[in-house]
This record gives sequence, C-alpha cells and structure tokens, in this order.
Amino acid sequence: MHEVVIPLTIRDLTVDDLPMLNEPPAHLTAIAKELNRARQGEVDYLAVCGPNNQPLASGAVDFTKPANGATLYQLAVLEPFRSCGIGTVLVEALEQRIIARGIYLAELGIDVASPRPKALYERLGYTVSGTKLGSWDVDAPDGTTTRYETTITLLRKQLLPAPADS
Ligand SMILES: CC(C)(COP(=O)(O)OP(=O)(O)OC[C@H]1O[C@@H](n2cnc3c(N)ncnc32)[C@H](O)[C@@H]1OP(=O)(O)O)[C@@H](O)C(=O)NCCC(=O)NCCS
Repeated sequence: MHEVVIPLTIRDLTVDDLPMLNEPPAHLTAIAKELNRARQGEVDYLAVCGPNNQPLASGAVDFTKPANGATLYQLAVLEPFRSCGIGTVLVEALEQRIIARGIYLAELGIDVASPRPKALYERLGYTVSGTKLGSWDVDAPDGTTTRYETTITLLRKQLLPAPADS
C-alpha cells in the first residue's frame, strides 16, 4: 500500500466550481440557488480543495435557522475521496464560520433512508435532537425531475457557551 499526504485549502465555493462537483443537474441547480443566498450573506458555501484548487468537497451553512443556531447542509465529498477525513475538515470549517458570527448552536439533518453519515456527526459531537419531514428534487434515470419526500433526523451540537438567558 502507498500513502500520500495532500495539502487541503478551504475557500468559498463559486459558480465556476459547479461543473467539477460531479452532481446531477437538479442538485447543481439547488447549489446555484444557495450561492445566490451566499451573496446576500445568509449562507456561507465552502469548498475543500486539493493542490490544484479543484473542490474535493463542498457544503454550506445557513445562518437564518434554527433560532439561535445555524444549519449545516448539502455536505458532499467526491466519491473517490470519501472516508479519508475530508468530510471532517469540511464540518470543522463550517463550524468555524458559525463561531465567527457568535452563534452557539449548529444543527444538521440526515435522511433516515441514508443513515451512514450519522456515525461521523456523532463522532464530531452531534446528538440527535428530533425529526422533521423533508423534501427535495431528484433527477430520475429517464431525465425527469421528481420530488423526493422523507423523514429527517436532526442532530445538534453546542459550539459556544449558551447565553445565560436562553
Ligand atoms: C457524508 C460525507 C460528507 C462524509 O465525508 P467523508 O470525507 O467520507 O468523512 P470522513 O472521512 O471525515 O469520515 C468518514 C466517517 O464518516 C462515516 N461516513 C459517513 N458517510 C460515509 C460514506 N458514504 N462512506 C464512508 N463513510 C461514511 C463513517 O463513520 C466514516 O468512518 P471512517 O472514519 O471509519 O471512514 C461523505 O461520505 C459524502 O459525501 N457522502 C455522500 C453524501 C452525503 O451523504 N452527504 C451527507 C448528507 S447529511
């Protein structure tokens, strides 16, 4: 077995990065919409890049919800680079953006039908706080877009001491 160490940099994701994310069209449309929100300051959308500045992972944080908190979402690592620790780097970078705004609570949701990432988030200190219904557009093999509906498990982590009155 061979092993190499790759330096990673973290920067804001841009529209020019979208073709390199290897995501289906409906998801790229959803990311482009969130990049518009990033321009308004509601969201930070980050890329974790390899030495050639190409994104190996991307994910966002929404500072508008929940109350007193921020939501991590659309986290994805390019498939060949999963389980190498890059997802952990991405989550920690997003948490730093939350802390920089003085927000003390991070929340994220996982699809009950795809529970595997739960172990990662629990390792990083997140605990289950509830469930909610979720839905988003997905590309069907025939090229049409359908609405996918599921139950989301919510997980939370306190990043800073809570204000005394909350
Ligand atoms: C979830 C995801 C972002 C994690 O990124 P990552 O770079 O694989 O995460 P790390 O390498 O830091 O940690 C991996 C650990 O997380 C868990 N994990 C979560 N999803 C996993 C997956 N698809 N494959 C392998 N491990 C996964 C495992 O516990 C794994 O343990 P390990 O350290 O023994 O390998 C990435 O796997 C991914 O893009 N998955 C597909 C999209 C997705 O599920 N997004 C999250 C929605 S909430």
